[in-house]
Amino acid sequence: MKKILVTGGCGYIGSHTIVDLVENGYEVICADNNSRSNENILLGVEKITGKKIKNYKIDLCVLDDTYAIFQENPDIIGIIHFAAYKSVGESVEKPLMYYDNNLNSLFNILKCVAAFKIPHFVFSSSCTVYGNPDKIPVTEETPQKPAASPYGATKQMGEQIIQDAFKELSSKAILLRYFNPVGAHPSILIGELPLGRPANLVPAITQTAIGKLPTMQVYGTDYDTRDGSCLRDYIHVVDIAHAHTLALNFLVDNKTEQACTVFNLGTGDGCTVLEAIKAFEQVSGIALNYEIGPRRAGDVVAIYANNEKAKSQLLWKPQYSLLQMMETAWKWELKIKAEEQIFEAQNPDLN
Ligand code: WQD
Repeated sequence: MKKILVTGGCGYIGSHTIVDLVENGYEVICADNNSRSNENILLGVEKITGKKIKNYKIDLCVLDDTYAIFQENPDIIGIIHFAAYKSVGESVEKPLMYYDNNLNSLFNILKCVAAFKIPHFVFSSSCTVYGNPDKIPVTEETPQKPAASPYGATKQMGEQIIQDAFKELSSKAILLRYFNPVGAHPSILIGELPLGRPANLVPAITQTAIGKLPTMQVYGTDYDTRDGSCLRDYIHVVDIAHAHTLALNFLVDNKTEQACTVFNLGTGDGCTVLEAIKAFEQVSGIALNYEIGPRRAGDVVAIYANNEKAKSQLLWKPQYSLLQMMETAWKWELKIKAEEQIFEAQNPDLN
């Protein structure tokens, strides 16, 4: 079996990617210190795949502990590196914490790629590297603007570090630039678990709809877009996950001579905030309680992907529609609420 190390595998995209890798014949181990995730998500992965996933609960910023994973697993042939802090807002408040964590963990992983000659490497990047593009849709060659946040800067720097490092290595790398991952696995056994008040749009919508949040704000409707609200490319997390399996296959099957290849992962369709809310209301039958608020600092006005390169070279084809993204996100929120109610009923004294 081809063994893959998934760092940050207890996270939202990481856990969905582990499911897809296992379903496509890979053996997977995970490294996640659960500082921003819950190891129980691997129970959901196990229920879906029938496979128990071993998690090394270590801090990837500690080189010795990172090294030990590879000493214990000399048969690792590939790494998918998700582990990083990813909140745009938090990165503005705590830039040094973001640079320290996201870059030092990457340095250590790359040192292990070199030391253990790991042939295949896939990096979790983001459309945030484009900043506010002059022209949309963006291709992989669209020039990068200054990042709008330290989080975005760690992705831009990470890509540059990888591109330079892999010129010297016999290994090969792929950078996957996600647009806006949303939704949950159709089994509704795994999904997004935002910590605290969600910064991202779709969990804010579902938590408002279920009553966890009294209301939510649309951050500005005075932008130069078709309805005044910001435009994004929302993409189902399962489509994103499958692209990782295809990217690994692309490297394992030696499909490229390039040391480092970049792919956009978006549907290729733009969707505004107000359109996303309408899609949610359509699938849930709920009139969402939202207000129009001021713009959010650092927001990109409009961006969506030209995804032709991933479709032609990775043979990737996004399957999920916007309505299905909203439907699975809503079903996941309902599942969380039902589980919370069962817990409260079984532990009345805790309430
Ligand atoms: C989308 C739109 C908001 C919440 C960031 C990162 C990206 C990725 C996803 C990590 C914007 C609006 C949001 C709300 C709102 N991160 N919004 N009310 O900022 O496009 O992307 O998160 O992988 O790398 O850059 O995503 O979901 O925060 O915002 O109106 O309560 O929804 O203003 O226009 P974003 P988002």
